[in-house]
Amino acid sequence: MDHFHYTGHVLYCEGVPVAELAESYGTPLFVYSKKTLLHHLHQLQRAFAPAEPLICYSIKTNPNLAICRLMRENGTGFDVTSGGELFRALQAGGNPERIVFAGVGKTDREITEALDVDILMFNVESEGELAVLRDLSEQRRQQVRLAFRVNPDVDPKTHTKTATGKRGTKFGLDWERVEKLANTVLGHPYLKLTGIHMHLGSPIYSTEPYRTALERAVPLIEALREQGHDLHYLNMGGGFGIHYRKQEGLPADAFAEVILPAVEYTRCQLLLEPGRFIVGNAGILVSRVLFVKDAGGKRFVIQDAAMNDLIRPTLYDAFHRIWPVEPPSEVPAPPEDYESPIPHTRLVDIVGPVCESGDFLARDRWFPEVKRGDLLAIFSAGAYGMAMSSNYNGRCRAAEVLVDGDKHRLIRRRETYHDLIRPELEV
Ligand code: LLP
Repeated sequence: MDHFHYTGHVLYCEGVPVAELAESYGTPLFVYSKKTLLHHLHQLQRAFAPAEPLICYSIKTNPNLAICRLMRENGTGFDVTSGGELFRALQAGGNPERIVFAGVGKTDREITEALDVDILMFNVESEGELAVLRDLSEQRRQQVRLAFRVNPDVDPKTHTKTATGKRGTKFGLDWERVEKLANTVLGHPYLKLTGIHMHLGSPIYSTEPYRTALERAVPLIEALREQGHDLHYLNMGGGFGIHYRKQEGLPADAFAEVILPAVEYTRCQLLLEPGRFIVGNAGILVSRVLFVKDAGGKRFVIQDAAMNDLIRPTLYDAFHRIWPVEPPSEVPAPPEDYESPIPHTRLVDIVGPVCESGDFLARDRWFPEVKRGDLLAIFSAGAYGMAMSSNYNGRCRAAEVLVDGDKHRLIRRRETYHDLIRPELEV
C-alpha cells in the first residue's frame, strides 16, 4: 500500500497534488510520502515483533538525512557500508550502539572511525579484514564486536548484479571456512565474535532463499557456540522485494514466518538491514516532457529525467511504472502488468536527455498521448534512485521533497551549476 493515488485523473501524494509540487520545486523531482515510509517500516516492526528485532535501516538505499532522521525517530539503527555512510548515520543522530558496518573493502581509516565511536559490530567479510581488526583492537586495547558475514551459497533469484549470497560473488566468507576462522579469534582479549551476518541479494521475491540460508546458519551458530563463542546476534540483512510492476512483493509477515522460528530456536537477537522495503514505494520521480519525437519507426517521449537520476532501468533492465501525472480523461487506468495494450495508448520509449542510447526509463511501453510540458510520474523510485544518481553529462542532481499530509518541505535543494564545479581545484 502506498499514498500515491489518482483522484479524478489527478495524481496526489498524500493530500498534495503532485503537479503543485512540480510547479513549486521544478523537475526532475523526487517526491517522498512520509506516511508510506512509516507504513512500511511499521509493517516490518509488526511482523517481526515477537523477536524484538533491531532494524538497521540500510542507508545506501536512500541516504537523505531527513529520511535517516525519520527512521531513527521511529526506532531504527543503521546499516552502513562506508565512512561516508557512518558520518551520515551520526549526523542523523544515530546511536553507534545501533550501527552495523558491512562491506568487502573497509579501509583502515573507515575502520578506525567506526572504532572511535564504538559501533555495535563489524560484519567481517575476509581473513584480511579480520587481521586488520585484530591489529587495531590490540593497538587500541579496545573491545571489538564482530559478526562473520557468511556467504551461504544460496541463489536469491534476482539480477546477477545484485545477487550477493551466491558462491563466486565477492561477498562474505565461504560458510565451510567460518568455523576454522572463528577458532583463530577464540579467547582473543579484544575481538569478540558475537554474531552471524548474511545478506542474500536484493530484491528477493520468495522466502525460499532465506529458508535455505537459515538451514546453513543455524547449525553454524550451534557449532560456533560449541567452540566457545558467545554468539548472540543473527543478522539476516535486507533484500525484501517490493511492488514495481504489480503486487509482486511479499508481505513482511511471509519473511517473518520463515525467519522467526530460527531466531527462537537459536535464542539470538535478530538484526535486519532493510532498505528498499521501507523507501522503495514511498518515492516517485516526477519529470516533465520536453519533446515527443518519431524516428526510425518508433515514438520517443523525451523528458527531463535521465539515467543520471534513476539508473535502475539502464543498469538492471529494471521495470518502473510510469504514467502521466494528469492522464487524459478518456484513458483508463493501466492494467496491473502494463504489458497488454491499453485503449487510447501507443507503444513508446520514455527516454532522457543523456547522450547514450542506454539512457531510457522505459522501452516499448503502452502510453497515452502526451505533449511538451506534461508531467510524468516514475513510480517506486524511492530506493536506489537519488542514492545512485550522478552528475553525468553535467546534469545537476534533482531536488527531493517530503510530503506529510497536506504539507511538504524540501529536504534537498536542486543542485546548481556552481555545485558541479565546487570540488575542482582550478576555479
Ligand atoms: N544489507 C546489505 C549488506 C546490503 O548490501 C544491502 C543492499 C542491504 C542490506 C539492503 O538491501 P534492501 O533491503 O534494500 O534490498 N542498487 C540495486 C540494489 C543493490 C543492493 C545493495 N545491497 C537496485 O537498485 O536494485
